[in-house]
Amino acid sequence: MDRETFCRQSKVLVVAGKGGVGKTTVAAALARMAADVGLDVLVVALDSSGALPALLGAEGGLAYEEQTLYTAPAEGARGHGSIRARVITPDDALLEYLIDHGLKRVAKRLVSTGVLDVVATAIPGIREILVLGKVKQIERGGAADLVVLDAPATGHAVRFLTSASGLMDAARGGPLRSQAADVVEMLHDPKRCQVMLVTLPEETPVNELIETAYRFEDEVGVLLTPVVVNACYDPIEGIGADVGEVAARAGVELGADELTALSCAAAFRRGRQLLQEEQLQRLVAGLPLPEMKLPYVFKAEIGPEDVGPLAEALGRAIDGLPETTREREAG
Ligand SMILES: Nc1ncnc2c1ncn2[C@@H]1O[C@H](COP(=O)(O)OP(=O)(O)OP(=O)(O)O)[C@@H](O)[C@H]1O
Ligand SMILES: [Mg+2]
Repeated sequence: MDRETFCRQSKVLVVAGKGGVGKTTVAAALARMAADVGLDVLVVALDSSGALPALLGAEGGLAYEEQTLYTAPAEGARGHGSIRARVITPDDALLEYLIDHGLKRVAKRLVSTGVLDVVATAIPGIREILVLGKVKQIERGGAADLVVLDAPATGHAVRFLTSASGLMDAARGGPLRSQAADVVEMLHDPKRCQVMLVTLPEETPVNELIETAYRFEDEVGVLLTPVVVNACYDPIEGIGADVGEVAARAGVELGADELTALSCAAAFRRGRQLLQEEQLQRLVAGLPLPEMKLPYVFKAEIGPEDVGPLAEALGRAIDGLPETTREREAG
């Protein structure tokens, strides 16, 4: 599939998955890949901590006000793509809502007294609806070609996204209900919003992904993109060979310690690859969605310089996807 077509399938892509599988890293790579094919991308984080600012090269973190962090060097069909990023917290979204509704004078004081905590206890889901309502407003306003939302870890993400329909059941009428209804409408429309699930090629994350994929589709009613299998080891040719024999053939003399160390490293890598292949097979068998593999980055901490190569790897995975989307197949 063409990269730009992939990026323009939906206005909002929610990147979700189990804790620590690489959601934030994938969100950054996705944003970069989309910007490089000419899209104006807005990355939304749900709090100002986390790895996102560092990965996007934002000095001093992200704020409620958006900042431009990247402009693509090459011009796409519709000009240079770019990445902007911002945070949306429930408190900020509430403050903006009150100001927009003519309550500027009391708004700041109200929010700083922690009124939201009190209201949130009485009305579960209100925090989520404030944030998703803001995302919906951005999407409707056409402020970006693509909004990438770095979602909370899976269990929370399902709750996060089902909060809107929960609130609709609870509120009979009024602005809260209409806000919730608008959010549900966005989640149900694959042209407006889809979820990109991320996993590692390991047993527990794969199990969780298979289980939650169905929950996202059944409980939230949102369409899933192909899934990202992050941190995959690239196959190494000849890794199964005997280290001593290979060294002898190459005319290299290895000491006993070197031979042991190299043999252990090769055995570790073979084991890792075997595990990865098993888990990928389980994923294919358990979920009728295509996979997009991203490579393992051999570094203690991934930085902004690694986002470009990961974006390119994601782009190549998209190049290899079938042309038809599930929506078109269904239609
Ligand atoms: N492809 C990769 N190769 C190697 N390390 C990776 C890769 N992707 C992510 N990591 C590392 O794994 C850790 C978790 O990544 P990341 O913060 O993106 O995950 P997350 O799913 O957003 O986590 P959280 O649930 O805490 O928000 C980080 O240290 C990151 O540098
Ligand atoms: Mg994260």
